[in-house]
Amino acid sequence: MGSETLTVVDNRTGREYTLPIEDGTIRATDLGQISAVEGDGGLMSYDPAYLNTSSCRSAITYIDGDAGILRYRGYPIEQVAEQATFLETAYLLLEGELPTAPQLAAWEDDIRTHTYVHTNFAKFLDGFRYDAHPMGMLLGAVGALSTFYPDAKQIGDAESRYLQRVRLMAKLPTIAAWVFRHSRGLPFVYPRNDLGYIGNFVNMTFEIGGRHEPNLVLQRSLEILLILHADHEQNCSTSAVRGVGSSNVDPFSAVSAGIAALYGPLHGGANEAVLRMLDEIGDIANVPDFIEHVKGGGGRLMGFGHRVYKSYDPRAKLIKQVADQVFAETGLNPKLEIALELERIALEDEYFVSRKLYPNVDFYSGLIYQAMGYPTDYFTVLFALGRLPGWIAQWEEMLSDPEQKISRPRQTYTGYDVRDVVPIDARG
Ligand code: ACO
Repeated sequence: MGSETLTVVDNRTGREYTLPIEDGTIRATDLGQISAVEGDGGLMSYDPAYLNTSSCRSAITYIDGDAGILRYRGYPIEQVAEQATFLETAYLLLEGELPTAPQLAAWEDDIRTHTYVHTNFAKFLDGFRYDAHPMGMLLGAVGALSTFYPDAKQIGDAESRYLQRVRLMAKLPTIAAWVFRHSRGLPFVYPRNDLGYIGNFVNMTFEIGGRHEPNLVLQRSLEILLILHADHEQNCSTSAVRGVGSSNVDPFSAVSAGIAALYGPLHGGANEAVLRMLDEIGDIANVPDFIEHVKGGGGRLMGFGHRVYKSYDPRAKLIKQVADQVFAETGLNPKLEIALELERIALEDEYFVSRKLYPNVDFYSGLIYQAMGYPTDYFTVLFALGRLPGWIAQWEEMLSDPEQKISRPRQTYTGYDVRDVVPIDARG
């Protein structure tokens, strides 16, 4: 093999430059030495939407989009989803290793003792309108947590960071459940220390009159969905957490930025959009027309396509298995028929095949959540619950990386050259 360098010739000047290649990348800042005229600031790389730019070094999640591979800290997602609990997965992402039994017990215990939120939090949530979108409430509420814990500003202190990590993991299910209750005009249910992480969340969400019969199949299915969503390297919301966190703001504020990014229909909002799309299609007989409509540029087939996965999304495969277990418990959802038919046609259609568009994690997750009793506008909240450990792990990794600074991209200016302000009555 030749040397790990890249030699480029600047045809504007005829000068040759040799740039080091490390881990398959060149440093964009190395381009700065390539200059045509003195004072031009040097060459920049232009990469809108970061299609081919590595923004950090990360040891958390590995994805090979062409091969359909996803690994957390080296462990294949299939094994993690089958063998680990959500809190074990969170520990793995955060600490880098799977916990031993005593480590897991201590981690679970730490979380159990922080599930309560300040009583003022109930008043805060009550301030939202009855029809407020659950994601809007969630992002506001998590941002508001920063006002309850001003000590979270001590981001340079490892003990404080651990405490905020525990607070976030412990309180998000409580807040998420209360957001659900608020939307339905139901009184808030307080956390129960005798229940596990998932069981407690489900109980706070669905308990009525002091009663809720747990369905362990549905609880484990929800847990698997959360595990499948737990991290996905530098996606839009994680990049938001890292970018906002790079200003050294507290983690509650940084995570609320992640929730805001996840809210969007091209990201976490896609599972909600899938259900709306299935409603719009209405009947299996309308599927061919809908496919033609999408191909004609009339919209996107929501739940299809992925920036990274270009063969298949390994999470979608696992989710289909979960769907079978859930529908065996709850009975078939008529929209599933429409979804299966959409998938069947799209996977054979040249338009989708040539663009490498396959079902992504969100294609079936919405149907599963609906079968579990969650309303459509709540699906993304469940995604946020799952993604939380990834956001925190990535935030902490960013803070401990000596190469990271405040995130501040460059731009290519395309506006006016300098001009003079004209008095208002002289403007035409
Ligand atoms: N339906 C129809 N056509 C599509 C779709 C789709 N879902 N996705 C991409 N395309 C087409 C585009 O129109 C484009 O076609 P063209 O080359 O003829 O112009 C081509 O495929 C490439 O699309 P891009 O937008 O360049 O792909 P990108 O990688 O930027 O987008 C994304 C990825 C945002 C996920 C996109 O596939 C999409 O919008 N999917 C639907 C929304 C969705 O399901 N999002 C969830 C993603 S998973 C997650 O966030 C957890």
